[in-house]
Amino acid sequence: MVPTSLTTSATIFFLLLLAIPICLEAKPLKLKQTQVVFYMHDWETGANVTAIPIAGLPKKPWAVGTFATIIPIDDALTETIDRNSAQIGRAQGIYVNSALDGSDLHFLMSVVFTNKQYNGSSLEIQGADRFFNKYREVSVVSGTGMFRLARGYAILETVYLDLPVSNAIIRWNVTFFQFSTTLNHNVSYTILIRCACSRNGAVLSVPGKIWSFTSFGTVFVTDDPITEAPDPNSAPVGRGRGMYITSALDGSTTHVLISIVFTNGQFSGSTLEIQGSSPPFQKYREVSVVSGTGPLRFARGYAIFETGFVDTPIGYSVIKCNVTIRTA
Ligand SMILES: *[C@@H]1O[C@H](CO)[C@@H](O)[C@H](O)[C@H]1NC(C)=O
Ligand SMILES: *[C@@H]1O[C@H](CO)[C@@H](O)[C@H](O)[C@H]1NC(C)=O
Ligand SMILES: *[C@@H]1O[C@H](CO)[C@@H](O)[C@H](O)[C@H]1NC(C)=O
Ligand SMILES: *[C@@H]1O[C@H](CO)[C@@H](O)[C@H](O)[C@H]1NC(C)=O
Ligand SMILES: *[C@@H]1O[C@H](CO)[C@@H](O)[C@H](O)[C@H]1NC(C)=O
Repeated sequence: MVPTSLTTSATIFFLLLLAIPICLEAKPLKLKQTQVVFYMHDWETGANVTAIPIAGLPKKPWAVGTFATIIPIDDALTETIDRNSAQIGRAQGIYVNSALDGSDLHFLMSVVFTNKQYNGSSLEIQGADRFFNKYREVSVVSGTGMFRLARGYAILETVYLDLPVSNAIIRWNVTFFQFSTTLNHNVSYTILIRCACSRNGAVLSVPGKIWSFTSFGTVFVTDDPITEAPDPNSAPVGRGRGMYITSALDGSTTHVLISIVFTNGQFSGSTLEIQGSSPPFQKYREVSVVSGTGPLRFARGYAIFETGFVDTPIGYSVIKCNVTIRTA
């Protein structure tokens, strides 16, 4: 555990090195089971579209049922099959049709809860949505807030499908388990990501719309330097490599899919996998650490992002990133 009086990131980072052997002594973990059922409204056409194809194969229709179509989503999640029933959250992220015969969608998304019970918490979803099967399963790889370190699965069932116009309602039955956080050994450290994503430019977005950080469906690929302190000339720690997708229809949230690739110090060559929904205009936002490699193999946890400095015109920002993980 890191004393809160420590303020320099260098010291905190050093403590991570010291803390690793402690992690190996983790006690047996208790599991808490949670089950949630909801309906996902995936609407590509008609009123209030929530899923928009941004890319696909040349000379082929960009549609949910066609191989290689890439679709960012901000789908409503409701209590009942009725699209206007109480909303419990949003499914925000992206899916890609990943079967040559068009029968499968690769999901990379966050279930972001907004209902009273789970408000502000999220689940990270990854998996193969073989949508012609009556039932299929995707994975819950992690979570945030109340659902930190969650793992589980979701059974999906299509309860409404109009493939010609690409609209569907999917019933989700999610079962996940959580490690008791009080039994976890964990460590915190601080790094800084200089997100130059806006300046480097988007690589993909909704055709005919402005491609920007606050436009739904815009995809950025990043390779951001990570340093120990806000000063760009401070000691390098690694790189933040991966992609960001603006995943809220109103532009208020970004789906982050990055690896922290350590290039210096003891963890050089190891990585942490970061995934989650990050509303960049909120002071603090939490994403999941879903795994790691090298000395950080089996890492699980969460990262809290805090914007330290923004230069909007050139799209340059410095983000403080406080990662809490356990490796056993
Ligand atoms: C990092 O987060 C942990 C808990 O999530 C907190 O205890 C710690 O004070 C934070 N450290 C910094 C430097 O913000
Ligand atoms: C679309 O959204 C508007 C405004 O929120 C709402 O009044 C309308 O009922 C919605 N239409 C459908 C088909 O859900
Ligand atoms: C959820 O949290 C947000 C931000 O804290 C708050 O504005 C909103 O009213 C909350 N919603 C519910 C249903 O509690
Ligand atoms: C959800 O799935 C579990 C199996 O994981 C099953 O036992 C349960 O009956 C299902 N619940 C609903 C409401 O469909
Ligand atoms: C691990 O972190 C959680 C939440 O940040 C905290 O409640 C818990 O006390 C920490 N456990 C240890 C052993 O550091």
